[in-house]
Amino acid sequence: MKKTTTAKYPFDAAHERRIAWWRDARFGMFIHWGTYAVHGRGEWAMNVEQIPLKEYEKYADAFKPKPNAPRAWAKLAAEAGMKYMVMTAKHHEGYCLWDSKLTDFNSVKRGPRRDLVAEYVAAAREYGMKVGLYYSLMDWHHPDGARCIENKGAYKRFIDFTHGCVRELMSNYGKIDILWYDLSWPFMKIEEWQSVKLNAMVRKLQPEILINDRSLTPEDFDTGSEGHVKGGLPQGRDWEACMTTTGSWGFAARAKPSQYSTPAGILGTLRAVTAGAGNLLLNIGPDAKGNVPAPAEKSLRDVGAWMKKYGPEVVYGHVDRVQGTGLRDSYTRKGDCHYMWLFNWTPFERSIGRIRTKVKDITLIPGNKKLPFTQTYDRLLIKGLPEKNPDETVGVPLLKIRFAGNPRQDFAIGLKTMAFERKAAKAAAKKK
Ligand code: GLC
Repeated sequence: MKKTTTAKYPFDAAHERRIAWWRDARFGMFIHWGTYAVHGRGEWAMNVEQIPLKEYEKYADAFKPKPNAPRAWAKLAAEAGMKYMVMTAKHHEGYCLWDSKLTDFNSVKRGPRRDLVAEYVAAAREYGMKVGLYYSLMDWHHPDGARCIENKGAYKRFIDFTHGCVRELMSNYGKIDILWYDLSWPFMKIEEWQSVKLNAMVRKLQPEILINDRSLTPEDFDTGSEGHVKGGLPQGRDWEACMTTTGSWGFAARAKPSQYSTPAGILGTLRAVTAGAGNLLLNIGPDAKGNVPAPAEKSLRDVGAWMKKYGPEVVYGHVDRVQGTGLRDSYTRKGDCHYMWLFNWTPFERSIGRIRTKVKDITLIPGNKKLPFTQTYDRLLIKGLPEKNPDETVGVPLLKIRFAGNPRQDFAIGLKTMAFERKAAKAAAKKK
């Protein structure tokens, strides 16, 4: 990949300043919405079912959302403890949710006859959400979207169209906080998309904007964790995982309630993301009216109740990566404090093996009660836990463990190591 040289990429002081709010925010709402909400078979249907263009376009005419549908999403996002939103202004199907002058396949000319990006931006602002727009570079509808790779005229037209669409989005809706590009097919190179020029234009129009890495230049944050949290996290890069709540990004008309993420499942992902000091962009796929599927809404509200109680302590604000400690359980780290998310409640006592660092104190949250404990070489035994799980929201309380230094937990398997451990423990006991 050719090196991008402009001073704006990506670890400069301006990046640090720009991204500060986003790091603190941690949790955002992704919204996949387009004419695929009409057929309810996912946003890839046009491609995977090979629906002919003329037939597909009819979905646009049937797309008649209720006025200001995004207000309910923004309200839900606020209730869920999310701090920003990213909506698909144009997905791969090519339908533009704004009043584009560059194609008639848009929400003002076909279907709703309203500018849905305008409605969304206003709603997000009303609820104090930072505003993000998703833009798919790949376009199955534009006549040059594929042939641009082999035809010079088509190439020029498609690049002009792409840059022009982005320019409209960056010019017509006031301050935009995030530009979230997706899928760079059919080009694989920065030069082919002219991404350096494209993003320089974006930053000129929106100096404070955060841009993701999917126009192939690295920009402000990495999005490699899609659908899962990657093990080998990017080093020295801000990163965001994006996840669905049903297994589908676009509205899934036939999904059963049991196919939706549970509140504890969502918290599990949020925990993993927080451990890696990343962000979580959690998706909803509203239906063609703009309604959020009830099971997703319910889970988000429950997560919100939890976030209200624990978010300030363990999710928002600066966290350090739980890395290099060998800690084998569900932790989030803030300096010498490690927060253990108790997904499985154990009454009265809980023990943690092989912690090799002195523990200063342990607090149970909620209630902020200091718990008694004993610590020997291979076992930290925590006492005084109530019989009943004390978290009345989702059933995930926290243990805040303060260590005397950088914590370390050994992970030993095999008889040999275990025999060695017993010996070491004995020696340690003797010393005392
Ligand atoms: C993929 C999919 C797309 C989805 C996106 C979310 O690129 O093609 O449908 O919008 O991931 O990250």
